[in-house]
Parts: sequence; structure tokens; C-alpha cells
Amino acid sequence: MTLPIADTGADAGPKTYLSGVQPSGLQHLGNYFGAIRQHIELPAREPAEHFYFIADYHALTTSRDRDELRNRVRETAITYLALGLDPKLATLFRQSDVPEVQEITWLLATTGGLGLLERAVSFKEKVERGLKPNIGLFLYPVLMAADILAYDSTLVPVGADQVQHIEIAQDLAASFNSVYGEVFRRPSALLSKEHSKVPGLDGQKMSKSYGNSLWIFESGKPLAKAIGKIATDSRPPEEAKDPAGLLLFDFLALFLAPSELEDWRERVRRGGVGAPGYGHLKQRLIAAVEERFAPARARRAELLADPAEVDRILEQGARKARARAVATRDRAFRACGLR
Ligand code: AMP
Ligand code: TRP
Repeated sequence: MTLPIADTGADAGPKTYLSGVQPSGLQHLGNYFGAIRQHIELPAREPAEHFYFIADYHALTTSRDRDELRNRVRETAITYLALGLDPKLATLFRQSDVPEVQEITWLLATTGGLGLLERAVSFKEKVERGLKPNIGLFLYPVLMAADILAYDSTLVPVGADQVQHIEIAQDLAASFNSVYGEVFRRPSALLSKEHSKVPGLDGQKMSKSYGNSLWIFESGKPLAKAIGKIATDSRPPEEAKDPAGLLLFDFLALFLAPSELEDWRERVRRGGVGAPGYGHLKQRLIAAVEERFAPARARRAELLADPAEVDRILEQGARKARARAVATRDRAFRACGLR
């Protein structure tokens, strides 16, 4: 199968894919269509190095509950494995199992200009939403740059909201290299062409921190309840409508085959007797979500019952990832005079 991916142009040479997701909440449909799906499908079709990790250091900028964090790290690992990540093709690991990224963070912080962080949109947005920022939240993009550069990553598959962070990583690499020579490789963002910004149930970007997300494995009554929340209006089914303006169709587009999607669109556009109402469309969406993730839900249940297997995969991943990061850290230390 070909993936809808837009490549923003990496450097030449062997490719290394890397990405991370925060365990600061349950992984949702935005995470899946914007990022995780690529993390699972790319290793199966691109023979290259692939590193995917659970960004638990980053999650600490907002998490305050140790049990919850621990559970969510495990849940995130299970999510990847249940959805089909093959640990033989991709290295899955926990960010904090590679402490060298903290050393690289510091080196990047000593050569990067402060203006880079002051311009970071995601930080400004969080503050505008009322979050009282800690120092870690401000430094967040530097740690993220270290994550990327530690593994000599060339391609970083993420949703659109992370693109600026990857540009910051490019700039931080360039600043360090301009002082000390070619230590870090230049990474590029890799965006899902169709789904780089999945809307939430309220029409804003779906986000773990906005209370508008739908968990990938939601099912039964809670799923019906969540989909019931998707914003609609009071126009009757018979009234002809432009489907392009309907949030429900953004969701249906994630799941339905193009021909079926076009069929529903056409019936809504036409209106009249027998045209589907919002309730009808929501029922179709519920059935599609149930069906799409049914096999993964079953695998998730198996993995929940086998914690030792999940630990084994994470430990193996950490060993491989760490060897790479140690080599990069040593190279960077030598370049700047720490060794
Ligand atoms: P986060 O939940 O912030 O850890 O994001 C993990 C990954 O999912 C990142 O690559 C994000 O860009 C991506 N992502 C998060 N929310 C969305 C969304 N609503 N649409 C598309 N991608 C998203
Ligand atoms: N900041 C990313 C997010 O919230 C998670 C992340 C941390 C990441 N380090 C990374 C993504 C390195 C890509 C590469 O989505």
C-alpha cells in the first residue's frame, strides 16, 4: 500500500526515521492518523532504520501523577504494538531510557540563540490557554531537538503541529555545527499528506490537552457518546447542505473508502426525502471506528495480559537506541572540548 506522505526533503545518505509521542494522555485519532500510522506502516515498506519512542521526559512538563504517568507509558507502548508496530523492523523505546539526550540538550542549549525558543508557537499557545509554564516547557523544543539529533535522524514523521519544532531542531543543529564542525545531521519533517491536522470533537485541533479527543480504542457506549458530541447544527435532513462545511465529514473521511464517502456526500448535497440526517451519519461513523480498530483492540487485550513481553520489547529497544545516542554524545563532547 502506498502511504500519503509528503517528504520535505532530507539530506542524502542513509535514511533514519524517528519520532516520539507523549504519554501525557491516551493516544487519540489525531495521533493515529497524523503520526502513529506512519510509524507503523513506514518500517514495513521502507528498509531503513526506524526509531519510535515514548516521550516521558517531555510528558513531565505537564504530568504530576506518577502512577498515571507510569501507566500511560505502558499504555502507549501497548498501543503501538497492538496497532501493528513490528519490533523487528522498528526500535520502540522509552525516551528516559536514553539519558544521553539530556547531555545533548545541554550542548544544544549552549550554542542555540534564545530567540529560537521565544518564537515557539506551541509554547505561546499553551501559555495563552492559561497554562502556567515551567522552565521545562520553555526548553521543550531543545530536548526534542536532542531526541532527533541523538540518532542521526533524517526524517521525522509527525503531525503539522510539530513542524516548527523540527525547524528549531534544524537551527539548533546548524548553530552547534557552525561553532564546532559537522557533528549533527540535518533532519526534515515528514507529514501525512491527508491527515496532518485531525480536528477534535469540537472542531479545533484534536489534542490531549483540549478535552476534545477520541481515544483510538474507544468502543461501545463511550464511543457512541463521544461521537454524539461532534458538533452539528439544527438543519433538517431534507435540507440540501454543503458537506465540505460539516465536521462530521472530516471524521468520516478518516475511515470510509473514497467511493462510499462520495456517495454520502452526494446524498447530503442533494437533500430531499431519504437524505441522511446527522444521527444517521454518526451511526455510520461509530460502526466504521468499531470495525477499523477491532483487531487492534483484541491484540491490546492480549498485550495487557502479558506485561513481561512489553517490558522485554522496551528494554531491547532501549539498548539499541542508547548505543546510537552514546556515539553521538561522544562525538559532540569531543567536538566541544569535554573529552
Ligand atoms: P502528542 O500528542 O503531542 O504527543 O503528538 C504525537 C504525534 O501526534 C505528533 O506527531 C503530533 O504532531 C501528532 N498529532 C497530535 N495531534 C494531532 C492532530 N490533531 N492531527 C494530526 N496529528 C496530530
Ligand atoms: N513533541 C512531540 C509531540 O508532542 C513529541 C516528541 C518529543 C517528538 N520528541 C520528539 C516528536 C522527537 C518527534 C521527534 O508530539
